[in-house]
Amino acid sequence: MVRKYVIGNPIETDSVVESISPESGALPYFNAYKEQKSLTLNMDKSARVYGLGETVRGINKRGFLYVSNNSDDPFHLEEKVSLYASQNFFLYLGKDMAFGMYVDTPGKVSFDIGFSDINVFSIIFEDFDADIYVIDGESMVDIVRQFRKIIGKSYVPPKWAFGFGQCRWSYMSSKEVKEVADNYDDLDMPIDSIYLDIDYMERYKDFTVDKDRFPDFEEFVKEMKARNIHLIPIIDAGVKIEEGYDVYEEGVKGDYFVKKENGERLVAAVWPGKVHFPDFLKDDAREWFGNKYKVLIDKGIDGFWNDMNEPAIFYTEDHLKEVFEQIEEYKGKNLDIESFFAFKDLVGSIDNYPEDYKRFYHEYKGKRYRHDKVHNLFGYNMTRAAGEAFDRICPDKRILMFSRSSYIGMHRYGGIWCGDNRSWWSHLLLNVQQMPALSMTGFLYSGADIGGFSADVTEDLLMRWTEFGIFTPLFRNHSAKGTRRQEYYRFTDKESFRNILNLRYAFIPYLYSEFMKAVDNNDMLFRPLCFDYAEDEMAVEVEDQLFVGESIMVAPVYKQNASGRYVYLPEDMKLLRFRSYDDYDVEVLDKGNHYVKAALNEVLVFVRKGHAFPIARPANRVGDIDYSGIKYECYECTQSAYKLYDDDGITK
Ligand code: GLC
Repeated sequence: MVRKYVIGNPIETDSVVESISPESGALPYFNAYKEQKSLTLNMDKSARVYGLGETVRGINKRGFLYVSNNSDDPFHLEEKVSLYASQNFFLYLGKDMAFGMYVDTPGKVSFDIGFSDINVFSIIFEDFDADIYVIDGESMVDIVRQFRKIIGKSYVPPKWAFGFGQCRWSYMSSKEVKEVADNYDDLDMPIDSIYLDIDYMERYKDFTVDKDRFPDFEEFVKEMKARNIHLIPIIDAGVKIEEGYDVYEEGVKGDYFVKKENGERLVAAVWPGKVHFPDFLKDDAREWFGNKYKVLIDKGIDGFWNDMNEPAIFYTEDHLKEVFEQIEEYKGKNLDIESFFAFKDLVGSIDNYPEDYKRFYHEYKGKRYRHDKVHNLFGYNMTRAAGEAFDRICPDKRILMFSRSSYIGMHRYGGIWCGDNRSWWSHLLLNVQQMPALSMTGFLYSGADIGGFSADVTEDLLMRWTEFGIFTPLFRNHSAKGTRRQEYYRFTDKESFRNILNLRYAFIPYLYSEFMKAVDNNDMLFRPLCFDYAEDEMAVEVEDQLFVGESIMVAPVYKQNASGRYVYLPEDMKLLRFRSYDDYDVEVLDKGNHYVKAALNEVLVFVRKGHAFPIARPANRVGDIDYSGIKYECYECTQSAYKLYDDDGITK
C-alpha cells in the first residue's frame, strides 16, 4: 500500500507517474518538526536502512549522513556526503516495523541515519516542502515493487549495450579509435562499443565533430558499424559561448539558456571555457536541446552519455571576479594562520562554488525558481530532453543513454554510470555496494568505470574489477587522461582478460533476460542477500555478495593479493569456478560459511538450488551470440526451471 503525504508546498518533480490522493492524517513512523524542518524516527538497535541509490559506504546505510545535493566530486571518499545523484528512496527495517519511503523534493535534503545520534534517523530539509510516499508491504522486495510501480518503468537500452564498451578520456582521433577496435579484434577479444569522450568535439562544443581529427565522421561511423562496433559520444551540459556556433546562437535566439536575477544569461565555465547552461527544466528549451541529438543520430550514432550535468561549474564569471578582487587584498601581506587559510579557501572555492548555484533561475511549470531550489532536477531533465527527443526522432528504435547526474524519474529515460571513481580496491567494493541501491531506485542500466577512472590501475585490480563488472548491465572500462592506459590488450595476461570478457558474452542471455524481467516486474536486478533471507542473521550482515537475478549469487574478490575469500551461503548452492567458458570447476556447497578459492583469473558464480543458469557460447559481438547453443547449469532442477526472455534487442 502506498500512501502520500504532503508537507508544505512541494515543487513537482515528475518523478512519480501515478496519481495518488494525499492522506489527511499525520505522517506515520516519523515525527515532523516544522520549526527544525525535519522528520525524526527513533531507531531500535537492530534497525537497518537500505537504498538512497548512488552514495558512499555500505549496503546498510545506517551510521552515516547522506545529503542529496548533486555534486561533481571526483573524490568518492568515505567522508563524502554527496555524490552525483539524488535518489531519495529508502527502506527501513526495524524490529517491529518495516516500510519504504520516498522523499520527493528537488532541493537539498539530508538523511542523517544514526550519524548525529546513533539511534536517531532524521531527515532534514532545506525547504520543508515535499511529497512523501510511505509504502508498506509484505517483504522488502514487495515494497520495492510498489515503489517502482509508482515511478514508472525503467529505461531499456538496446541489447548491444550489454556488450563490452571501451572508453578513455583522450581518444584524440578516428585513427586512434580505429586502433582500439583493431587491437580488440586482432586479439579476438569481444567488444561492442567504443566511447568518444570530449576530444571528438571541435573545441568541446556539443553536437560538433572535429573535422581534422575525425574527418568524414559519418563514413567513420559507418565503417565501425560495418564491424558491428557502436561509437558512443559524450554530450556535456554547457554550451560554448561563441559567435557563429549554431547551438549557442539558437539558444540565445530561442531564449533557452538560464538567466540571473537581472535577466542576463549566466556565464559559467566548463571544458570549452565560458558556457551557457540550457534551461532543461523549461519545456521549449528541453525540446530544442533534445532535437540537437539528431545531428549525431543522422550521422549514424545510436548511443550517448550525458556528462557534467549536476551541473559541474569550473567557475562563474561573477565569482571569478569576486575572487580576483579579494586576492588583491592579500597581495604583499604577511599571511598568518587565519589569513593564509582564508586565502587558500578563497582560491579553492572557485569550482562548484555553492553560492554560484543561487545565481541563476529556471522557468519551470510556469513559474520561476532559483536554481538551488530545483538543483537535483537538472541532470534528470537534460537526460529527459534526450529521451523525449529519441521518441520523436526514432520512435521505434532504442538509443543507448546514460547520465552522470540523476534524480528518480530519470530512470525512465536512461541509466547512470557512477562517475569519477579511482583505481582503488575500495572503489571496486563501492561498485558492488552501489548496485543494489541503484536497482532499488529503478536505475537498472548502470555500472561504474571498470578499473577505476582516476589514478593508475594495476593488472590485478583491473582483472578483479572486470570479474565483477561482467555482471553489471553497463559494462565499460573507462579511465582519465593522464592515467595509465587501461585497455585490456595492454596487459600481460591477455588470455585471462579474453576469457573473462568471453564469460560476459556467455552470460548475456541470462543478464539480458533478468534485466528485462526486472524492468517488467519492477524488480531489483541486484539484491543483497537479506532481501531474500530477511530472517537469516548472517545474511543480514553480508555486504559483499549479491544475488543477480533469480538464479545466481556473486561473491567478487575485491582484496589485493587475495587468492580466495570467505563466502556465506544462505542456502545450499552449486559453485561454478570459471577460468573460461568451457573450463570451470563445479562443486556443491552446503548452506553456511566457506572459504572459497579464487585465483586471480577465476570468476565465482553460485547457482541457487532449484534454479537454472543459462550459458551461451561466447561471441565477439552481442549480435553473434548463438542462442541455439545455450547450455544450462542446473542445481537440482531441469532447464525448464528457467524462463529465458529474449527479443530483437532494438525495437521499443
Ligand atoms: C568527467 C566525466 C568523465 C570524463 C571527463 C572528460 O570527469 O565524469 O567520465 O571522462 O569528464 O569528459
